[in-house]
Amino acid sequence: MKVATKGLEDVIVADSEICYIDGEKGILSYRGYPIEQLGDNATFEEVIYLLWHGKLPNRAELDAFNKELASVRELPKPVLDLITSAPPEAHPMDVLRTAVSALAFYDPEVEVPSREANLRKAARLVAQTPTIIAAFNRSRNELPIVEPMKDKSLAENFLYMLAGQEMMPVLTRVLDVCLVLHADHDLNASTFAARVAVSTLADIYCGVTAAIGTLKGPLHGGANTRVMEMLIEIGELEKVEDYIHNLLDKKGRVMGVGHRVYKTMDPRARILKQYSKWMSEHGCGPLWYSMLTKIEEMMHNEKGLDPNVDFYSASVYYCMGVPLDLYTALFAMSRMAGWTAHILEQLSDNRLIRPITDYKGPLNKRFVPIDNR
Ligand code: COA
Repeated sequence: MKVATKGLEDVIVADSEICYIDGEKGILSYRGYPIEQLGDNATFEEVIYLLWHGKLPNRAELDAFNKELASVRELPKPVLDLITSAPPEAHPMDVLRTAVSALAFYDPEVEVPSREANLRKAARLVAQTPTIIAAFNRSRNELPIVEPMKDKSLAENFLYMLAGQEMMPVLTRVLDVCLVLHADHDLNASTFAARVAVSTLADIYCGVTAAIGTLKGPLHGGANTRVMEMLIEIGELEKVEDYIHNLLDKKGRVMGVGHRVYKTMDPRARILKQYSKWMSEHGCGPLWYSMLTKIEEMMHNEKGLDPNVDFYSASVYYCMGVPLDLYTALFAMSRMAGWTAHILEQLSDNRLIRPITDYKGPLNKRFVPIDNR
């Protein structure tokens, strides 16, 4: 007899060659490369190429890829107008979802299903996502929009478009590492949404629009903003203990902690913890890092739960000066690489994704005319 697996936990729905996770041991790799090695050595652009093509680019391939990405960063004028006409209080993820969806109107290849065309569309999506996020942040703050640069990395260009000036190289590198760490994570909820959408042979824009909507939720990518909101609300290291106990007593959830797949510390959190510490020692002050490590210790000891990717990334983004409500959009900026890699993989051997429910309701009821109900 078939039984429902709530939340599809541990259900395998596809073969994949993109991302490997061992949740018991806390291992993550992209295309066979451990995340620690990629975090230490790779640029985000190399990782995007790796996810899409299954191999690291050589120098000539990377140069050509960087050029391609830099050449497609600008947004179609109507999409920029759409972004600047969004209400300033709109959630950046809603603006991103709507703008990405609207990009389809202006893409002449939207209905071209070949892998080559999908790779070009994926490049446009990865390149234009930072432009959308930065443009909305400038517009809602009544600042002039900053045009993308044609010769810098995605991370450097994004920080430049956001701030209106070039940032310290060390901050660019920190953002680049964050982008590498968030780029893919197997069949998480948003990636699954993307694969479901394109399994109907709907276009790539449908897939990534579904994914952005799915990432927004606080049980998924929305957790990073909530982590920082929690730290600000607590305000002092001495208040951490009472706050967390109070929250747990009320059966509340500590954001940035726990994971469906990891039964130990998320390896990305381990890396981000080092960056959070480094930022605390280089200008940001010790408060956020010390609060986070205290919460980590409490949650580990009292609940057997460990930090996930959203825990320490929150303080890293905060120390970089990124507005709180942009954190999830930064996650999307990176995950666009993974979503599109999975879309390409899904389409390379497609079968409609169509599970079933275990129906528990009544059967054979008689229809009652409206006046007799
Ligand atoms: N805070 C407090 N308790 C938590 C918790 C958290 N962050 N995460 C899980 N738990 C507890 C649950 O309350 C539950 O306890 P119970 O069995 O006593 O009811 C148990 O751990 C299992 O939780 P469950 O929700 O079934 O696990 P899941 O696999 O569905 O949850 C998450 C995974 C990520 C949704 C969950 O850990 C969570 O909500 N984390 C906070 C949000 C977050 O950081 N999301 C980003 C993920 S990358």
